[in-house]
Formats: sequence, structure tokens, C-alpha cells
Amino acid sequence: MSTLRINGGKRLAGEIEVHGAKNSVLPILAASLLANGETVIHNCPGLSDVDAAVKILRHLGCGVKREGTTITIDSSTMDRCDIPDALMREMRSSVIFLGAIVARCGEAVLSMPGGCELGPRPIDMHLAALKSMGAEITETGGNIICRSKKLHGARIDFLTPSVGATENSMVAASCIEGTTVINNAAREPEICDLQDYLNKLGANVSGAGTPVIVVEGRSFKGSAEHTVIPDRIVAATYLTAVACAGGDVVVKDLIPAHVSTITQALEEMGCHIETHGGSIRIVKNENRLVAPRPVITRPYPGFPTDAQPMLMSATLTAAGTTVFVENIFENRFRHVSELRRMGADVKTEGRVAIVSGVEKLHAAPVAATDLRGGAALVVAALGAEGTSVISELKHIDRGYYGLENALRGIGVDIERV
Ligand code: UD1
Repeated sequence: MSTLRINGGKRLAGEIEVHGAKNSVLPILAASLLANGETVIHNCPGLSDVDAAVKILRHLGCGVKREGTTITIDSSTMDRCDIPDALMREMRSSVIFLGAIVARCGEAVLSMPGGCELGPRPIDMHLAALKSMGAEITETGGNIICRSKKLHGARIDFLTPSVGATENSMVAASCIEGTTVINNAAREPEICDLQDYLNKLGANVSGAGTPVIVVEGRSFKGSAEHTVIPDRIVAATYLTAVACAGGDVVVKDLIPAHVSTITQALEEMGCHIETHGGSIRIVKNENRLVAPRPVITRPYPGFPTDAQPMLMSATLTAAGTTVFVENIFENRFRHVSELRRMGADVKTEGRVAIVSGVEKLHAAPVAATDLRGGAALVVAALGAEGTSVISELKHIDRGYYGLENALRGIGVDIERV
């Protein structure tokens, strides 16, 4: 079992690049099933979740080629409509394939994705949306069977914006007859990226980035070439890393507007932020950081739940008290008990965590509990004196490609053992 050894407490300097967005690549790979021809997707990071999505495409009969960060998919040879349990378990977000498979084949058989480390992750909104488009859904023996002779456009009203359910609805709606209107749609940048890709394939989707998405269904047999957007959560991780360790770093290849809630919080804490095109320079000098206003996670454009754990690491040594309110996932403070091993003073009660800033963190052996919780441990270890050893790296490897090399480039003493 490999571990990361991080000798922290050193100031960071230099430039670091952000890779493509995991949460864009996955729905785009699913949507490539509709292409019925060859599509080329650039900027796909070599993450274990992306490997799992490629395995699913190959299982479904698609031809998939990978060259560096480019994935070429030929979906014209697709000849199956099921995703077996083993593949579903490899990536919890594989439910994202549901809409594409049923729209293309008239049937999809998936095993239930089950719970996850962030608490129960229901898919009722995905299923309700497909039902309103005419799908019949049966759940038997842990399988979901979704059938439709012919899906049709529908009005979908989400009670709360769900990223995955919005994506499944957009994909399914784009190649069926009729108009679909998605109300209270998720507005995340990855939704806009999916809209761009679908429209390149020949679909007619508009409104992504607003609460109302309109999809004029049409048949298309397109092929497309697309470059996925930069990963805003990886960018947030690097920015919080500099805040925690101190230093002067340029984070490159990002879209500053996508991380504005994070940079606002970091500025409030006393970091200096400069934006230049697709780069952000962050400077954290010797002065102690101060606690920011309460950090309340909300759907985009609110503060992202995925960046909450890493920002928490940066607040651990800030003067004062920081309040975190987690509104999206109920089990998203699992990193707290590991951070306490490094000397952090954090109390949790339900969806609220209260950080009382300590003078210093110290190195400790810690275990990643989930993807972003693991990233939070890396960030904290950079600011902690001594060598921390982080285990359970499989969680971190789901979302960060080439993490050690990238961090070494800004002066981090890090090794995978
Ligand atoms: C996506 C992201 C994940 C991020 C999350 C919230 C991907 C692959 N993953 O996950 O990194 O943390 O958005 O920004 O893009 N819900 C229901 N019923 C449903 C679906 C969702 O009740 O059918 C609830 C969830 O429990 C949660 C909220 O809606 O409380 C938002 O979840 P959702 O936006 O769907 O998250 P994911 O798409 O799974």
C-alpha cells in the first residue's frame, strides 16, 4: 500500500498547472455514446475515475484510444446496454451513463450505485427526470432497468439543483423527439462544458449556467472534437496549499471566475491574489492568516462543497474562529478527525464545523477518508512542521493526476513510497 510522505513547513514558489476537470470529462465521455461516430476529447487527465469510464465505454462495445490526455471514442460499434456491478462500483458517478444509454438503446441496465463516503447519494431525481421523458423504471435485485420504446421531451422541475441529474436529463433529452425544459437546473461550469460538447455533436441545448436549460431534441449523428475545461477544484487545492504553507506561486491553466468564491475567502484571510488571464498569482507572506467569514457550501455559484475540506485546512492556523456550514452532503467532515491528529482544533455538530485557529500544525500519520478529504490532508501537511505520512491514496488518485510532480515543481518535499 503506497503512502505520500510530505515534509512540510516550507514556503512554496514557482508555477503549477491545473489539469482537465474530472467532473467534465465523465459526463462528456457518457455523452459520446450519442455521437454514433468518432469523437476526440482533449485535456482528459489520467485519473482512476476516467480509467473506469473508459472501461465502461469499452464494455458497451465502443472503440476507445488514449494518447496522452486525448481520448478518441468510436461509439458506432456500441452493442450493449448494461453496466455490470463491478464497473459501477469502480466509479460511483457511473449513473451518469444512464441517460445516454437509454436514449440511444431504448434500454439501460445498471446496478444500484449504492451509498458513498459522503453519505447516502440518492438518484431519485435522475430516475424521476427520465420517467417524465417516458422511461419505465424497475428496480430489482440491486439493478435498475430503465426502458423506453421512445423517449419524448418533458418539463422537469428539480426541487434542488443536482449536477448529475441535470447532466443525465440534458444528455437524454438532446437526441429524442420534442423539447425538454429543465427548471432549477444545476449551474456548475461542468454543465456549460457538457452543453458545448453536445452542441458540437449537433444537439440544440441552451441555457446552461442559468437555472433553466432548454433542449430541443433532434436526431443527430455527429462527431466532435472538444477540449474539457480546467478542474476548478484542483485549482482550489493548489491555491489553498499556498495559503497553508506560505509562498508566492502562479497557478496556471485555470478559469479565474470558476474559483472566485475560493479566492475571495483567501483574500479575506490575508492572501494577496492577482489574476492574469488564465492564471492566478497567490502570495502568502509571513503574517498569520485571519479567519474568514462563515464558509457556507451551496450549489454553484455558491461556495463549492468540493473545496470545503481544503479551505478548512488553510483556516486551521488562521487567527480567530472559522465556521463551516456544509449544505450539500451530510457526511463531509470525515477529514476532521485526521486533521485533529495534526494538532487542529475543530468541533463538529451535524452540518456545522467550527475551527479555532491554532498557532502551528505538526506532522502526523493520517489516512485519506475520501477524495477531497484526502486533498485537505495534503494541504494541511504542507503547512505542518515535520514529515506527515498520508495513506489510503486511492481516494486522492480519483481526482488528482501527477500530484507529486506538480507539487515538487513549487518546492514541496514530497515522495510516494
Ligand atoms: C457532483 C460532483 C461532485 C460534487 C457534487 C456537488 C460529479 C461527477 N460529481 O456530484 O464532485 O460534490 O456534484 O457539487 O460531477 N440529490 C438527491 N437526489 C438525486 C441527486 C442528488 O437528493 O437524485 C442530492 C444529493 O444528495 C446532494 C445534492 O442533491 O445533497 C446535490 O448532489 P448532486 O449535485 O447530484 O451531486 P453529484 O452530481 O452526485
